Amino acid sequence: MADSEAQQQAEMKRRIEENWAKAAASYSEWVIQNRLLTRLYPRFQEWLVPRLKDVAGARILDVASARQVGEPAVTLAAALPHAQVVSTDIAAPFQELGRARAAKAGLGNVCFESADAEDLHKYADASFDAVTCSLGLMFLPNLGAALREFARVLKPGGWFAATVWMAEERMPFFLTVKILAMQYDPATVLAAANMAVRFGDPAGLLHDLGGAGLTDGRAEGIEVDYDLPAHLWWKALLELPLPIQPALAKAQAQRPGEDVFEEGRLKMLEMAGQQGWLTEGGDLHCKDNGCWFVTAQKPAA
Ligand SMILES: C[S@@+](CC[C@H](N)C(=O)[O-])C[C@H]1O[C@@H](n2cnc3c(N)ncnc32)[C@H](O)[C@@H]1O
Repeated sequence: MADSEAQQQAEMKRRIEENWAKAAASYSEWVIQNRLLTRLYPRFQEWLVPRLKDVAGARILDVASARQVGEPAVTLAAALPHAQVVSTDIAAPFQELGRARAAKAGLGNVCFESADAEDLHKYADASFDAVTCSLGLMFLPNLGAALREFARVLKPGGWFAATVWMAEERMPFFLTVKILAMQYDPATVLAAANMAVRFGDPAGLLHDLGGAGLTDGRAEGIEVDYDLPAHLWWKALLELPLPIQPALAKAQAQRPGEDVFEEGRLKMLEMAGQQGWLTEGGDLHCKDNGCWFVTAQKPAA
């Protein structure tokens, strides 16, 4: 890889890490306290339990677990009490809440460590029976390096499972935010590709899995609802790494006498209402956001 490309990737990774570090506390509030993504994690459990239930001393590596969430690591540790689960994320300091969740659930079989998904050198070759990654692959600038690392640390016959968001057209939540942000600062929105929907068409990801030595790649569609209480959903929109906050901030700088953020909130409220996403109490219920559940296997020796 050329030096300039490596530098660009390092800079991108630094920014992504910074964004997620900023959003970490809120993310755990949405995901854990408000059960935003709870339909996603059980899919890992359903798929992996039959494959690992009879594997004595099974070991699972979960990458990009989120420092205050630890998922699907905690779900898998609960479902497979005989397995050892290593929950990792690039974020440091590490996973206070994930650890607290595990302790509360009485789980002694999950540990929390810092690791960059693209560089898993601290883990030995062929040392895991499964590698999992929920909503993390999209944020890896060097996906190929990460997939090669997953293949390296998997034992022959080991399993890979991940979730990634579908394209914006299948993600009404992201699409609506984009339409709103475009009204304020189209240039910034168009320049900043939404990394979260990078694998909208999973064909490229399946191809790259094969290239890394993981075979029988498959992508199954899952629908996820975004349910957030009234007091939280606008805050969540501004804190997630989405284009709306930068677009509103730019417009605000150009219109100092006005409350552009309040104007944006009211517009979003109207758009959400028109789409039938608002309950009487003002909670958000945005249905049918599409997600791919992607699986593959390292060939048996
Ligand atoms: C959307 S969160 C997913 C968290 C959790 N797995 C879930 O499904 O709720 C994305 C996570 O990817 C992590 N991340 C970003 N770049 C990473 C990297 N290079 N290696 C490991 N984790 C990374 C972020 O710190 C963040 O916690």
